[in-house]
Amino acid sequence: MKSLFFIVFILLVLSCFNSSNACSVFVTGYTVYIKSTIVNEDVTLRCQSKDDDLGYHVLNSSKVDYDWSFCQHVLGATLYFCHFWRPNYEQVFDVFNTTIAIHCRQGKLDHNTCSYEVRDDGFYLFEQHNYVWLKRFNWKRASSTELPNKYTLSP
Ligand SMILES: *[C@@H]1O[C@H](CO)[C@@H](O)[C@H](O)[C@H]1NC(C)=O
Ligand SMILES: *[C@@H]1O[C@H](CO)[C@@H](O)[C@H](O)[C@H]1NC(C)=O
Repeated sequence: MKSLFFIVFILLVLSCFNSSNACSVFVTGYTVYIKSTIVNEDVTLRCQSKDDDLGYHVLNSSKVDYDWSFCQHVLGATLYFCHFWRPNYEQVFDVFNTTIAIHCRQGKLDHNTCSYEVRDDGFYLFEQHNYVWLKRFNWKRASSTELPNKYTLSP
């Protein structure tokens, strides 16, 4: 009888986690937030993980930012990388992996934020512990000014 109560209790606790829209136990929620401060040019980006393609998005003065959220198990190895394009320049790098997660943790269950700024001189990540922007990458001169062949805008 005691163990039945225990099981019911655990189920109640789990359902609380779910109803608050947080990730469940042993899982941490992250948000990757990308903002462009380049006002005079379109920055196109495409972010992907092993089994998830988030599609093409354009950042410019009418839409400066883009974000998505996901849950990661404590033993998990979630990885998202993004490809960025602007006239004459491009870059590609991991925006989320187990190393970067350290910079994003705010001790919350959900929405620990990996905050990026795309600037004229490169890509910056906000270090949540020290409240500083770390420059991670420069823009790379593109071999071609063309956008990728299968360029389609997601709604
Ligand atoms: C921003 O990009 C969108 C999608 O390409 C485009 O429709 C819109 O006109 C752009 N806005 C500006 C201010 O360039
Ligand atoms: C995570 O991504 C960064 C680039 O953003 C890279 O320098 C680092 O080696 C990657 N770490 C792992 C564990 O893949």
